[in-house]
Amino acid sequence: MTNSTPQDTQNVLADTHASQTIDKDEISTRLAKLAQTPEQFRKINTFMKRRTHMSQHHEQALLDERFGDIYVNPTGELGKLGDVSAITDLRALFANTPNGEHAPLTLEIGFGMGDSLFEMAKNAPETNFVGIEVHEPGIGRLTALADEAGLANLKVINGDAIALLENLPDQHLDTVQLYFPDPWQKKRHYKRRFVTHDRMAKVARVLNSGGKFHAATDWEHYAFWMLEVLDGMPEFINSCEKGNFTPRPDFRPLTKFEKRGITHGHGVWDLIYLKA
Ligand SMILES: C[S@@+](CC[C@H](N)C(=O)[O-])C[C@H]1O[C@@H](n2cnc3c(N)ncnc32)[C@H](O)[C@@H]1O
Repeated sequence: MTNSTPQDTQNVLADTHASQTIDKDEISTRLAKLAQTPEQFRKINTFMKRRTHMSQHHEQALLDERFGDIYVNPTGELGKLGDVSAITDLRALFANTPNGEHAPLTLEIGFGMGDSLFEMAKNAPETNFVGIEVHEPGIGRLTALADEAGLANLKVINGDAIALLENLPDQHLDTVQLYFPDPWQKKRHYKRRFVTHDRMAKVARVLNSGGKFHAATDWEHYAFWMLEVLDGMPEFINSCEKGNFTPRPDFRPLTKFEKRGITHGHGVWDLIYLKA
C-alpha cells in the first residue's frame, strides 16, 4: 500500500472530474462574448418564478408579523417579489441577537426550500447566516423552520440577490455560498447563469479579504464554466489551485436539488475560492 499525499488526492480528484465531453474552448468563447455585452446583461434575471404548492403554515410565515425577527422584508401579500432597496447592512440585522453583528457572516444565495441552510445554521450557532430567495414556498418554509427551532442566527430575505449585493458595503461578508444554482442549460440562456464575470465581481466586492465563495453544481458544463470564470478572476484564489475542483466538504448538507441530481445520475462538483 502506498501513502497518498494531498497533491495525489488532488490529482485523482482532477482526473475524476476530467471531462471527455465538455468543450472548454466553447466555454471560453461563450464567456468572451458575454463579457462584451455587460449593459444588457445586467438587466437579465438569473431566476424564473416557479409555482409550487405551499402549506398554510408556511404561507402564514410569509404574512404574519410575528415572524418579523426572521423574515426581514415581508411583502404583505403573496406573489410579490421582495424589495431589498432598504437593506444596506446585513450585520445590523443581528445587532440584538446573542451573536451580535461582529460574528462571522455567511450569505446563501438561492437557498431553495431551505433545508440545507437550516441545517448549517443549526450546526454553527456562532455564525450568523442570511439566506436570500425569490421562491415564496421556500422563504415561508425556512422562516417557519427557523422560528420553530428558535434560531437567532438566521435571517431570511425575499428578493433578487444581485440587487442586494449592489446595496451592500465593500468587504461586508465572510462567506457567500451558492448551492446548485439554476444551470440554464440552453446556449441562449447562458447569460442568466449566476456565475459570470460581471456577477462574480459583485460577490468579490462584498467579501472580506480572505473571505470565501463556495459553489456546488451537479451540471458538468456549468462546473467547468464556473472553473473558467473564477480561475480567470484576479479577485479570487482557488483553494485547491487553478484547474481543480474541491473535495465535497463535510459541512455542506445535501440539498434538495443535489439529491435530485444524484437520482438522475449526475456528478457533483464543489468549488471554494478565497477573496484575494
Ligand atoms: C436550482 S435551485 C437550488 C436551490 C437549493 N440551493 C438547492 O440546492 O436545493 C436555485 C434557486 O436559486 C434561486 N435564485 C436564482 N437566482 C436568484 C437570485 N438572483 N436571487 C435569489 N434567488 C435566486 C431560484 O429561485 C432557485 O430557488
